[in-house]
Amino acid sequence: IKKEKQQRKVRLLHKFFYTELRKEQQELLEAASKVMGTAYNPYSRFYVGAALRTESGIIVVASNVENAAYGSTICAERNALGRGNAEGHRTYTAVAIVGRGETFDVTTAVSPCGSCRQMLNEAADVSGHDLEVIMSSTKMENIVVSTIRNLLPLGFGPLTLGMDVSRYRESRK
Ligand code: THU
Repeated sequence: IKKEKQQRKVRLLHKFFYTELRKEQQELLEAASKVMGTAYNPYSRFYVGAALRTESGIIVVASNVENAAYGSTICAERNALGRGNAEGHRTYTAVAIVGRGETFDVTTAVSPCGSCRQMLNEAADVSGHDLEVIMSSTKMENIVVSTIRNLLPLGFGPLTLGMDVSRYRESRK
């Protein structure tokens, strides 16, 4: 039983080949990869693409937008959440993330930074369920699939503040 538990734990970060992904997962990853080139990244020259799938099945994409005041930079994942919100979306089922350097490919899965995990965690709360996170290397030879609850255990969220955000589930569009 102990061994079984250990094996189950490993699956929280499950490695996949592209061909092993479900059709919608592949589609989401392709959307993230396609938008990556739009990154405004004069400082890092690093490109990140993120694609969110809404509960209604719509894909919302965004890339990273940097700033001369480096700390003001906003990651692809958070830009996608902002864009989704403005387009009237509040509930999501999955997010795909991929990245590359200007002159090099990333060979391991690109995973969301701490701030993005925090924002995705709130999106999961509003959605009312966990959010799948699909992380990929540039050429998609290394793909890791997990969930936001697994990537951000014990996350600080609305409930911590005694806040029920379920009423924000409905968009105002
Ligand atoms: N970046 C993202 O867009 N998402 C992440 O999760 C990690 C980092 C961006 C921010 C910055 O423009 C560049 O990658 C280098 O940090």
